[in-house]
Amino acid sequence: MNNNILVTGGAGYIGSHACKALQRAGYTPITFDNLETGWAEVVKFGPFEKGDLRDRARLDDVFDRWKPKAVMHFAALSQVGEAVRDPGKYWSANIGGAVTLLQAMADHSCRDIVFSSTCATYGDQDGVLLDEATPQRPINAYGASKRAIEDMISDFGATYGLNSVIFRYFNVAGADPEGEIGEFHTPETHLIPILLDVASGERDKVTIFGTDYPTPDGTCIRDYVHVSDLVDAHVAGVHWLEAGKGNRVFCLGSSRGFSVREVIAEAQEVTASQIRTEIGPRRGGDAARLVSGSVAAARDLGWQPARSTLSQMIEDAWRVHQTLQHPGKRAS
Ligand code: UFG
Repeated sequence: MNNNILVTGGAGYIGSHACKALQRAGYTPITFDNLETGWAEVVKFGPFEKGDLRDRARLDDVFDRWKPKAVMHFAALSQVGEAVRDPGKYWSANIGGAVTLLQAMADHSCRDIVFSSTCATYGDQDGVLLDEATPQRPINAYGASKRAIEDMISDFGATYGLNSVIFRYFNVAGADPEGEIGEFHTPETHLIPILLDVASGERDKVTIFGTDYPTPDGTCIRDYVHVSDLVDAHVAGVHWLEAGKGNRVFCLGSSRGFSVREVIAEAQEVTASQIRTEIGPRRGGDAARLVSGSVAAARDLGWQPARSTLSQMIEDAWRVHQTLQHPGKRAS
């Protein structure tokens, strides 16, 4: 058996970091990505197959040639605000991609999948700490599409013997500690990279989306986890499946919540810059508070986040922001 792992979305932020972790762990990550939101420049740790998941013939070709022993499925649209504005786009890309991928896996006898899900599947739960047993009640098409894929994986498991590890992430942040890859979106919508753009003078200010949430300072609270810790869990997920330990869901967070204002204060500290802010209205689809209360990944997967303090995440992201060129911002 070869050590090939098909990484859908391997040209994206989390997918590219996963490829690096897989290569380091002795696997060959085969990136499959349509480059709609990803960058060929970050595919540095294994072969690249450009393609869209909804193109079954292209997927068949890739499965035939690489015969992956497992799949890590990251490829998806993932912006909450955009999902509220254009839900059809989310249902089409995320569901269409997943169903084609799962059917191809079944037909090519590829039985192990690690799936990138999200705490956005929980919706707004009134401040409770979230874990694997919390009921999922998504409040936007992004979260709803990810929950539907979780259900799809369970159905394919029952019929075709597909084995799965599903990770529900909290807010992923930071960048490769060795500075080889980072977070590159166009347009950028995530809080921390926007703060770094303001700190470096590439943006004028950040808009705080709502200060009237039922939280101590009125801004939304999120649980941030370092991308390098997150992808370590994914490698542990592959080992879990190789050991035949069965289907599982794990939340991946740091069990600490930070408000938007607290993140801004920390970013000012790390970058030693004043970050100009303005107050704006709430952004549709945002939950007031999303914080993990899960211990399952630590207990059962042996997952120990090493870099998931807020200052470390911002520091790592800041270093890459200063040293690596954003592939979408090249001078033309
Ligand atoms: N925010 C602002 N101003 C901005 C950008 C963000 O105030 O310019 C706020 C948001 O309203 C939110 C918080 O900062 O309260 C974090 O927002 P992000 O856009 O960085 O992250 P999200 O929480 O919206 O979503 C991210 C990923 C999703 C994932 C989710 C899990 O994009 O894929 O985390 O919480 F599902």
